Amino acid sequence: MRILGIETSCDETSVALVENGKTILREKTHSQVMVHREFDGVVPEIASRQHLVYILPVLEEVISVEEMKGVDAIAVTQGPGLIGSLLVGLGVAKALAYSFGKPLIPVNHIEAHLYAPHLFADIEFPYVGLVASGGHTLLFLVRGFHDYEVLGSTIDDAVGEAFDKLAKVLYLGYPGGPVIDKLAQQGDPDAFTELGRRPQLLPDTGKDRYNFSYSGLKTAFTYRIQHLANLESKLPHICAAFQREAIDLLLRKSRNALEDHGISRLVISGGVSANSYLRQRVEAWQKEGIQTFMAPLAYCGDNAAMVAGRAYHDAQVGRYGDLRTDAYSRLGFVKKGKRAV
Ligand code: KG4
Ligand code: ZN
Repeated sequence: MRILGIETSCDETSVALVENGKTILREKTHSQVMVHREFDGVVPEIASRQHLVYILPVLEEVISVEEMKGVDAIAVTQGPGLIGSLLVGLGVAKALAYSFGKPLIPVNHIEAHLYAPHLFADIEFPYVGLVASGGHTLLFLVRGFHDYEVLGSTIDDAVGEAFDKLAKVLYLGYPGGPVIDKLAQQGDPDAFTELGRRPQLLPDTGKDRYNFSYSGLKTAFTYRIQHLANLESKLPHICAAFQREAIDLLLRKSRNALEDHGISRLVISGGVSANSYLRQRVEAWQKEGIQTFMAPLAYCGDNAAMVAGRAYHDAQVGRYGDLRTDAYSRLGFVKKGKRAV
């Protein structure tokens, strides 16, 4: 089954053709990052207009009108995401579905992120799934593609958002994650002594055992760096200290979920799974018998291959949309509790 996937939820315009949820036949992603960099973050209206400009040229590079006949279904990100951006992808997907007489498969963006590592490995269930991106931080207990529970989530900012906000106050540009990651590699987290004690992030007990919180971390760092002399020379240490706190919290909560459920398989996805410190740490867990799965760097962030891949499994359970399918900006059906197919 060949599925054409379309992703326009945030600031990447992406189209991919994927066979049987596994083989990426063709793909193209146009990143808007250079346009948004000027504003230190994604400007929703500019994002949707950029999608409008690039979606058909990107589509054209992936597939010709003639080749559309060989496609079995059109998959598209339905939400969550920036509503104006989603509407561009959905509008194009629905027009393609209508004009070529193909079924439409609306895909949840979080489920698509969680699927990205499945494109590259055969992953058995159950596993603990962590989605860490610019908009979401969610921990799942996953028993099957359509059988999962949300164990916890952030109670304030998303982890990627915290990287982006710290980068903004340090004038490091957007997106913050990659630049903080790079600077941190030359820094020593313990050398940023001005931070004082390591901040106490959410405890591991009670209702917050699987939850995350990042606004306190951002405030602690912003407060400490405000009047710092020689800020420039301390940047690598600041970045290393921040990165350690932010990533260690992700790993601690994931570890809680693995231990409590007696599971030794962890899948991490979303933009923040590209973080080099995170990848090093979880790779070391393999020695302890914990299998860890992450997508290659190019598939940690938003891409259409994960949308088309995920859609293959949605098609298996008959989860199709129709010409009235709407978009949604918030989490949609991924809520606390069990996923209803
Ligand atoms: O998944 P994604 O591309 O978009 C959303 O759905 O949000 O994630 C983007 C986020 C941004 O906040 C970005 O700063 C972060 O992922 N990110 C990173 C790294 N690369 C991207 N965060 C930490 N370390 C990285 N290497
Ligand atoms: Zn995303």
